[in-house]
Amino acid sequence: MKPFSIATALVGLLSTAAASAGTSSVVLPAEFKPPQTFKNNNLVHIISLEKNYVKEQINVLVEVVAAEPQDEYYLPFTPAQMARVGGIEVKDRKDAGAGSFAVDAVEFDPLSDIQYYRIRLPTPLKTGEQQTLGITLYYLEAYKPLPATIAQDEAQYLVYDFSVYAPSVYPTLKQKTEVKAVSNNIPDYTKVPGNEENETFPQKIGSKLTYGPFGEKPAGASSPAQVRVEFNKPVTHVATLERDVEVSHWGGNVAFEERYTVYHRGANLTNQFNRVKWAQQAHFQAPTSALKEFRVPLQIGSVDPYFVDTIGNVSTSRFRSNKREALLELKPRYPLFGGWKYPFTIGWNSDAANFLRQTPTGGYVLKVPFFEGPKQSEGLEYKQVVVRVILPEGSENVKFHADIPEMSLVESSIDIHKTYLDTTGRTMLTIKARNLVDDFRDRSLIISYETPFMATLRKPAMIFASFMAIYVVAWATSLVEVGFSTKK
Ligand SMILES: *[C@@H]1O[C@H](CO)[C@@H](O)[C@H](O)[C@H]1NC(C)=O
Ligand SMILES: *[C@@H]1O[C@H](CO)[C@@H](O)[C@H](O)[C@H]1NC(C)=O
Ligand SMILES: *[C@@H]1O[C@H](CO)[C@@H](O)[C@H](O)[C@H]1NC(C)=O
Repeated sequence: MKPFSIATALVGLLSTAAASAGTSSVVLPAEFKPPQTFKNNNLVHIISLEKNYVKEQINVLVEVVAAEPQDEYYLPFTPAQMARVGGIEVKDRKDAGAGSFAVDAVEFDPLSDIQYYRIRLPTPLKTGEQQTLGITLYYLEAYKPLPATIAQDEAQYLVYDFSVYAPSVYPTLKQKTEVKAVSNNIPDYTKVPGNEENETFPQKIGSKLTYGPFGEKPAGASSPAQVRVEFNKPVTHVATLERDVEVSHWGGNVAFEERYTVYHRGANLTNQFNRVKWAQQAHFQAPTSALKEFRVPLQIGSVDPYFVDTIGNVSTSRFRSNKREALLELKPRYPLFGGWKYPFTIGWNSDAANFLRQTPTGGYVLKVPFFEGPKQSEGLEYKQVVVRVILPEGSENVKFHADIPEMSLVESSIDIHKTYLDTTGRTMLTIKARNLVDDFRDRSLIISYETPFMATLRKPAMIFASFMAIYVVAWATSLVEVGFSTKK
């Protein structure tokens, strides 16, 4: 019950769906250059290669050097990074309760080889004032397998390119960069000259490389580096996830369906897949980069799950459901190796009471996860997520709040979805998002809407009417038959 009182309180924050909602960008002149208004006093850049996407954390103590108060801090990206960066969230490291700061893509010269996101500080800082920003972001399609092809039982290695100095449009007085791998096996990494204490960087301790501390570097300083790490796990990439959430007041049900197009972006097989060898590998539980299973924790109370691929129902799945969990374990028909694709669909139902509440004014509030999907130790990245929420017929005044980073939202719209037995068609909210990772699964989507009294009656009335029609037809048919029989 408790989450719902919060949900109701949140209704005031909901935005009305519009074609432009979510696309947060700011248009600036083509010759735009970020003004030199800040310096970075101290910066720690943590690059995590522990998942099949890259997570970067930049903690930076910034200080205003301009004469006027400043509230705009710019982050630079290459055009290639712009296409793959996702989930940017910025907080005050010393005041996490203050929430996330607004982050907008900057639209200016599209041909510029540096593009920007703009961070908006909640209160402008005066000259000499400081603030500690905690910036989190993700890169999808971040790695290249090296070697590009491997044998079925060989270890997989991935390469990641980065800069030893954190990219910044401001001078940085002091900084270090940490790279965290998933295993201690880091066969190759770029070495750079060190300082008085260490002749070269990085220092390698276990699965972590540390570059720096470095002294003052000018704005835009870069030092390209590459690291090659062992990664004996699937490099799973969801090109598209289409998630449908269908609300039925009349049936008291919420139906979920998710359609996935999954690719393995790891090393391809050198030779053809060998099933006998695979059985042996599986028997010895040898580490493998092949994808064998998805574990999908659903909301408690989920029922009637199904798992379908291009061939049909996949029976090799298990569903464990009780008061504490509803875990769907999916085993694809074959292990998925590098370069392979696997499209599939899963779906399930749940009692509407688990997600839907009526407001005191007669409206409704629906609270569902924005997306769910597998929870894998190696992670899961989503290039494109399309969530469609199909509301009861005649629903109006639809507002929503998706608790995912604003820069991940692409667009939203309201349409009419017509199905069999619908008279006016159902109201459908579509939200498109991009570059998400499984760190954001279970972030909520809250929707408020109203249904006019007549609209709630229409569906039962319609079904009643069609029963009547069948009854009338049946009655008429029997009359005819009676007519025939009397003629004989
Ligand atoms: C490198 O520097 C760190 C301190 O920054 C020190 O703990 C470490 O022992 C040094 N390593 C070498 C090989 O000098
Ligand atoms: C798949 O399984 C469901 C329920 O287990 C069943 O209703 C449906 O007919 C099956 N579909 C196919 C194509 O076998
Ligand atoms: C791996 O396989 C995929 C799909 O067949 C192909 O598109 C890709 O080019 C292959 N990569 C290499 C390095 O051979």
